[in-house]
Amino acid sequence: MAFPRTRLRRLRQSEAMRRLVSGTRLSAEDFVYPLFTCPGTGEKRPIESMSGCFHFSADLIGAEAAEVASLQIPAVLLFGLPERKDPTGSEAWSDNSAVAIAIKQIKQTAPELLVITDVCLCAYTNHGHCGVIKDGKVDNDSTCELLGKTAVAHARAGADIVAPSDMMDGRVGVIREALDSAGFVDVAVMAYSAKYASAFYGPFRDAAESAPSFGDRKTYQMDFGNPRQAMTEIALDIEEGADIVMVKPALPYLDIICRAKQRFDVPIAAYNVSGEFMCINAAADAGYMDRQGAILETLLSVKRAGADIIITYFAKTAAKMLRK
Ligand code: PBG
Repeated sequence: MAFPRTRLRRLRQSEAMRRLVSGTRLSAEDFVYPLFTCPGTGEKRPIESMSGCFHFSADLIGAEAAEVASLQIPAVLLFGLPERKDPTGSEAWSDNSAVAIAIKQIKQTAPELLVITDVCLCAYTNHGHCGVIKDGKVDNDSTCELLGKTAVAHARAGADIVAPSDMMDGRVGVIREALDSAGFVDVAVMAYSAKYASAFYGPFRDAAESAPSFGDRKTYQMDFGNPRQAMTEIALDIEEGADIVMVKPALPYLDIICRAKQRFDVPIAAYNVSGEFMCINAAADAGYMDRQGAILETLLSVKRAGADIIITYFAKTAAKMLRK
């Protein structure tokens, strides 16, 4: 069946026809919106490196969460800043951390919204690494223990899902065990499983004040030439108890998302990170690209690659665009 009988343009004739056969659809329900919280009250501080993003103190985060929920976005991913940073990042597992207080606030104003918390130490340590330092190196096993404590503190505050983003070996198992021992059997784990050592985290590190003060993250985050380890990381995380696995960043790793989708039967999340977000914003601000078009095309590509869940700073904007 070739031309002239076959004409693919038949199915492209109108918006309705294209929609009918497209095969991939975006919806607000696909999104998770990251939120940043900070200590104090009355704070809604713009994050300079990330257009339209703010640090909210707990008292103001509820209203933001309510808006997110009203857009039919099912979940937020919460990041926090500490009052004080120290070598072990001890504020991460404090019951009075900004994150702990914000969780309770969000649960009050938007009870139907899922709260996912980022579990990592990098914003809490004074050296900016994602774990504790021993003999000049990021120590794996002692870090896992602290991540377990952090996850339990978040669960105690009311988190629905905890999301370890540190890339230590074995942390998912330690966290699952810690949650279960503390009675939080229903708190789910979304593992940042295939998290690559990426230049695209730049704007976020500004926001979280979490750039490493020495060295880089290449001894724990993945080497971006390596697709095989991504599959092993995901398989191990599932074995250790991850309920949802993640590929991060999204756009430069669509192949990894696609492979993960074909291979694993758990929900796959993809994180459209701060650098991807700001590439589009910068180009649109300069007038080089249509913002709305670039946003929808990008998010759709992540969905098409196989992501069931898309974590994106565009969540609110895209949800509003999709409503029209
Ligand atoms: C913390 C963490 C990072 C991001 C999410 N969790 C930064 C990093 O690993 O350096 C990046 C998110 C983004 O760039 O949007 N480990």
